[in-house]
Amino acid sequence: MHAAAVLALLALLPPLPAALDTSCVPASCGNLSIRYPFWLRGRQPPSCGYPSFGIDCDPAGAPPLLSDSYLRLLDIHYGNSSVVAFHTNLADDPTSGCRATKFNMSSAIVLSLLTISRANWELFLCGNCARRLPAEWLPMNCSMGSGAGAGGAQWFLYLSHDEPGGGAYQEIAAAGCQYSAVPVMPGSELRAPGDYAGLVRRGFLLEWKVPGDCAACEASGGGQCRFDAGENAFRCLCPDGSNQPATCARGEFTDPMISYSN
Ligand SMILES: *[C@@H]1O[C@H](CO)[C@@H](O)[C@H](O)[C@H]1NC(C)=O
Ligand SMILES: *[C@@H]1O[C@H](CO)[C@@H](O)[C@H](O)[C@H]1NC(C)=O
Ligand SMILES: *[C@@H]1O[C@H](CO)[C@@H](O)[C@H](O)[C@H]1NC(C)=O
Ligand SMILES: *[C@@H]1O[C@H](CO)[C@@H](O)[C@H](O)[C@H]1NC(C)=O
Repeated sequence: MHAAAVLALLALLPPLPAALDTSCVPASCGNLSIRYPFWLRGRQPPSCGYPSFGIDCDPAGAPPLLSDSYLRLLDIHYGNSSVVAFHTNLADDPTSGCRATKFNMSSAIVLSLLTISRANWELFLCGNCARRLPAEWLPMNCSMGSGAGAGGAQWFLYLSHDEPGGGAYQEIAAAGCQYSAVPVMPGSELRAPGDYAGLVRRGFLLEWKVPGDCAACEASGGGQCRFDAGENAFRCLCPDGSNQPATCARGEFTDPMISYSN
């Protein structure tokens, strides 16, 4: 572009705000970039994100823990509001899966703004069946250690990518088994019972939905997303220092993009 044209464009832009608030600039924790609605506990003010989205960076370099949960974060996808996380209790099981036979993921994860994604596949653990399961279910050895199957009860593993209520549930019901289900990443593979640990460590998808339209706030002339704990509400922090409920009110400057398209 011609230099004079660039100067003309710059002249149309509103002046830089006097004081940019930098307390919530994206922080990093290992290979993750932490920004709204997440915030780095101990390094950023709590107003940078939602209370339950505080992240504790692990000094030893392990994937960070999400607030006071048992979830360790492997990845954050800001584009589609999802995270990849694994549950420490499942991944640290020395009896490789036998503990999961007592585990109910849906009741173990009670984070109000995060839900287990329907895109996940499910790993089923079945035991104490009244009838035989189909041959695709892999027998697992829980006869050692303190797992739920200790004492010799036969348990089985199966990886399903059916919809909830699909084929695997029907097979479990038909065989009359006790079961638990663990979400795993779509595209996972289970060839042998020993694959269990690796599958659980790859994590599963969770999706978040928080009140307030952060994208709209950011698009409204330098707004930054904040959480106001006192009001328990989303806030848009504007260049003039004011906190608005949704977006920054347009001041005396018109948006150059809008004046051009008219
Ligand atoms: C980040 O590092 C963890 C190990 O700490 C790894 O499991 C994960 O795949 C990495 N994520 C990305 C996006 O590179
Ligand atoms: C979000 O996007 C990432 C990468 O683009 C993808 O790997 C992930 O599966 C998506 N999340 C959901 C819940 O679909
Ligand atoms: C797991 O917990 C959820 C919610 O508490 C409940 O609806 C579901 O029936 C439980 N599933 C099993 C297999 O116990
Ligand atoms: C299960 O593990 C126990 C203890 O290690 C071992 O004695 C037994 O042979 C194993 N059973 C099978 C079927 O692998």
